[in-house]
Amino acid sequence: MKVLMVCLGNICRSPAAEGIFSNRFPDIEFDSAGTGSWHVGHPPDHRSIEVCGNHGVDIASLRARQVTAVDGEHFDLILGMDQSNVRNLKAIIPQEFHDKIHPIDAHEVGDPYYGIMDGFEVMFQHLEQAADKWAIIWESAN
Ligand code: 4NP
Repeated sequence: MKVLMVCLGNICRSPAAEGIFSNRFPDIEFDSAGTGSWHVGHPPDHRSIEVCGNHGVDIASLRARQVTAVDGEHFDLILGMDQSNVRNLKAIIPQEFHDKIHPIDAHEVGDPYYGIMDGFEVMFQHLEQAADKWAIIWESAN
């Protein structure tokens, strides 16, 4: 199975999600991308790298890319961090693949970019909890 994690910039939330879920579910292939293009080619925000590193998740080598229409065909599941990510994804991904697009969690994973360091720890804990929920779904499917 191939899963794409998506946020706006692909430098804060979705690279953290990619790292956390890759560590947690080694048999699933994860990637991440942003709906925006501002940070294409950039490493994750240093605050995301630091918070993930504090929890043993190394995301320093990831580089941002933008979501493309082809991702709709390539991935089995495409998870947006918030409702605007889900909306933007539906504008980029062809309609026939829209059933692959879901929010990562019932509660939005808020954008920590303009906030303080604390926001990144909150983001990390939220993504860990989201992974607990997906574990129930994926482990029951085996
Ligand atoms: P992310 O956070 O979507 O979690 O990567 C953001 C990073 C950068 C911007 C917005 C959100 N930006 O507007 O540059």
